[in-house]
Amino acid sequence: METTGTQRVCMITGASSGIGRETAFELAARGYELILVCRDLLRGEATVREIVRRTRNASVDLRIADLSSPRAIRNLSHEFLLEARPLHVLVNNAGILNTRRRETGEGIEEVWAVNHLAYFHLTLLLLERIRESAPARVVNVSSDAHRMARIDLDDPGFSQRPYRGLAVYAQSKLANLLFSYELARRLSGTGVTVNCLHPGTVATGLGRNNPGAWPWLTRLISPLLWRARRGARTSVWLASAPEIEHTTGRYFQNCRERRSARLSYDRSLQRRLWELSLKQVGLG
Ligand SMILES: NC(=O)c1ccc[n+]([C@@H]2O[C@H](COP(=O)([O-])OP(=O)(O)OC[C@H]3O[C@@H](n4cnc5c(N)ncnc54)[C@H](OP(=O)(O)O)[C@@H]3O)[C@@H](O)[C@H]2O)c1
Repeated sequence: METTGTQRVCMITGASSGIGRETAFELAARGYELILVCRDLLRGEATVREIVRRTRNASVDLRIADLSSPRAIRNLSHEFLLEARPLHVLVNNAGILNTRRRETGEGIEEVWAVNHLAYFHLTLLLLERIRESAPARVVNVSSDAHRMARIDLDDPGFSQRPYRGLAVYAQSKLANLLFSYELARRLSGTGVTVNCLHPGTVATGLGRNNPGAWPWLTRLISPLLWRARRGARTSVWLASAPEIEHTTGRYFQNCRERRSARLSYDRSLQRRLWELSLKQVGLG
C-alpha cells in the first residue's frame, strides 16, 4: 500500500510528553508522516503545533484516545482504517506507573490496561493494515524494570496480591516483551518486524500523576537522569534504521541488542498471555 508521496507513515502513542514526544519530533524531522495518539486535546494540539513549527513537517495528525479504554482503542483504529492510508510504523509508547491501585471503567487494573492491553489491542486491530504496508515495523517501548517482574496470569490486576507500584509496572513491562516475541513469531515472513526496547532511565512525566513522595522524588533525581531526547534514540532507531529492517523479535537498549530476562522467552507463558489478552480486550 502506497502513501501519497515517498513518506512513511508512523503512529506513536503517548506522544504529548516525555519519550513519545521526542520520538515524534525526531521522526518528523526525518520526514515521516505522523499520527500522534494523545489523551488530552490541548496537550496534543500544542505538541503538533510545536513539531510543525520546529521541523517544518506539516504532515502531523492528532488522534485523541484514552488508551485505558478498549472502546477508545476500537474507535481510534476504526477511524484510521476508514482512511485508505498505509501504516509503516506503530510505536506503542504510552505508559503509566501508579503507586495506588486504580481500575478502568471495565474493571481492569489501570497499569495493566494502559501498559500492556493497549499495546496488544491497538496492534491487533491495526495489524491487517500494517501487513498490507510491509515492509513495516512494530516498536514496543518496554523497560529493564521487567527483570524484577513476577507475572501472575491468574491475577494480572493485583487484586489478590499487595499492590506495589514498581512490581505492577515491572509485570506490565515483562508483558510487553512476551507479547513482542509471540507477535514477531506469528508475523514471521510477512515483512513486518516487531521489536522491544528499554529507553534508559529518563527524566519524564512517568509516575508524576501519583500523590505522595514519588513525584517529588523523581523531580529531585531528574538532573541525574537522561533527557527525553536521549531516551527516544532507541525508539527512533528501531522505527527508522535501514540496517535493522529485517531484525525481529529482539530487545534493544542504546540501539544495541540485549538479552531480556529468561522468563520473557518462555513460549508457553507468551501463548497464555496472548489468550488472556484476547479475552480481556474482547477479541477472544
Ligand atoms: N522514563 C523512564 O525512565 C522510562 C524507563 C523505561 C521505560 N519507560 C517507558 O517509556 C514509555 C514512555 O514513558 P515516559 O517516561 O516518556 O513517561 P511520560 O512522560 O509520562 O509519557 C507517557 C505518555 O503516555 C501517555 N498516556 C498515559 N496514560 C495514557 C492513556 N490512558 N491514554 C493515552 N495516553 C496515555 C501520557 O499522556 P499525558 O501526556 O496526557 O500524560 C504521556 O504522553 C512508557 O512506556 C514507559 O514505561 C520509561
